[in-house]
Amino acid sequence: MSPRKKSSSAAADLVVVANRLPVDRVVEPDGSTSWRSSPGGLVSALAPVMRANDGAWIGWPGDAGEDLEPFSHDGLSLVPVALSEEEIEEFYEGFSNDTLWPLYHDLVAKPSFHREWWDAYVRVNERFAAAAAEHAAEDAVVWVQDYQLQLVPAMLRELRPDLRIGFYLHIPFPPAELFSQLPWRRQVLEGLLGADLVGFQLAGAAQNFIRLVRQRVGHKTHRDLVYLPEGRRVQARAFPISIDTAGFEELAASEPVVARAKQIRHDLGEPRTVFLGIDRLDYTKGIYARLRAFSELVAEGELGDDAVFVQVATPSRERVDQYRRLRDDIDRLVGRINGDLGRIGSPVIHYMHSSFPREEMAALYRAADVMVVTPFRDGMNLVAKEYVACRLDGDGALVLSEFAGAANELRQAFLVNPYDINGMKTMMLQAHRAEPKELGRRMRAMRKTVSENDVSHWASAFLDALTEGRTEHSKTTRPATRS
Ligand code: G6P
Repeated sequence: MSPRKKSSSAAADLVVVANRLPVDRVVEPDGSTSWRSSPGGLVSALAPVMRANDGAWIGWPGDAGEDLEPFSHDGLSLVPVALSEEEIEEFYEGFSNDTLWPLYHDLVAKPSFHREWWDAYVRVNERFAAAAAEHAAEDAVVWVQDYQLQLVPAMLRELRPDLRIGFYLHIPFPPAELFSQLPWRRQVLEGLLGADLVGFQLAGAAQNFIRLVRQRVGHKTHRDLVYLPEGRRVQARAFPISIDTAGFEELAASEPVVARAKQIRHDLGEPRTVFLGIDRLDYTKGIYARLRAFSELVAEGELGDDAVFVQVATPSRERVDQYRRLRDDIDRLVGRINGDLGRIGSPVIHYMHSSFPREEMAALYRAADVMVVTPFRDGMNLVAKEYVACRLDGDGALVLSEFAGAANELRQAFLVNPYDINGMKTMMLQAHRAEPKELGRRMRAMRKTVSENDVSHWASAFLDALTEGRTEHSKTTRPATRS
């Protein structure tokens, strides 16, 4: 049967496979290296269930390097997968972020198709699948994450048919008309079909997938199920991801964050209205269009003379051309706006190209009157949910793109079409002028949504659905997903 390769030292009942490990490597002044947790929603949701199930997390440490031995950090077993310089270029920057990323985000930028990049994608996916096969215990549950690893489910099933395999796509899954451009469309669909459960942010994405499987692979489908010729069934469903709501609330209530939020407003010159944008510096996020909309409102005198925009852009994928160009474009735009509209000591846009710890983010959320989240396309957008979680007093306004997955749940936001600059201006103005009563009504409803659906609900809903379907492998107990 299966060419079982079970490492007795590290047989995990729950294996998470993600492009990145949940840690960053820190090089000390003496040249030695250590690891620092990189806090994210995914790891905060999965850490308890991983600890309870002898879990292992397989991922890339984030830089080029030699094979590293598995190690433990903060109670988690981590298994590093090495990528060479060339693989970083072809698999990570190339196929993942210059082919799949723009293709899956509505072609906001033009995807590049290169056969060598595809070959690297296959090779690296094989390496992740082999690592998962090695570290999973018999009948274990393996949860593969995101677009970088879409071939892993089928490769892993080939190596280890005993496993229960789930896959979750954190980004949008495009309509058939766009996906069909991909020269390797069939291989990607077949890769995903190696999973028992394929999860998406939105129901529409799951439907896109089912339709493509029917059209391009020719399998029978009914509602959210695909029927494979060998008798196996694959389910495709929406599981909208969320944040560690209680963690953000606690942070936002903490004394240092409250003090820091005051300090931020003071440093900004106590303006009447603080607008805020926080994004990875990515062309899908609509940063350029939103800053233009804001600057036009300022130029037209609509916001009075004491509104400022704070834009934090976290550096991202900086060696990919489209990202480099975007950075130059934003630098130029911010320079022009401040040159035209700023005064000594009071620029209208405060732009920071850097990443900040969670505490600083929470302080910025607390300090902002209007949060502006305007992606052209976004799987979910957790910044929108984090802002809501940090508004403990139920005030503040959220301007949100209808093309962010979050708009499905945060219906009480000021929803905008980011392609429509005039429409965005109208909504930003409406958010700015709204009465506290209206803001409170909207924010309270959104806070309820975010507190009822946090990331641990998301993780348990997915893992429960994945293990519920288990029939022929019913020996292991279901992972305890809430601890
Ligand atoms: C998105 C993707 C993640 C990715 C993250 C940061 O949220 O869904 O898979 O890890 O962006 O991008 P990076 O390329 O730095 O990992």
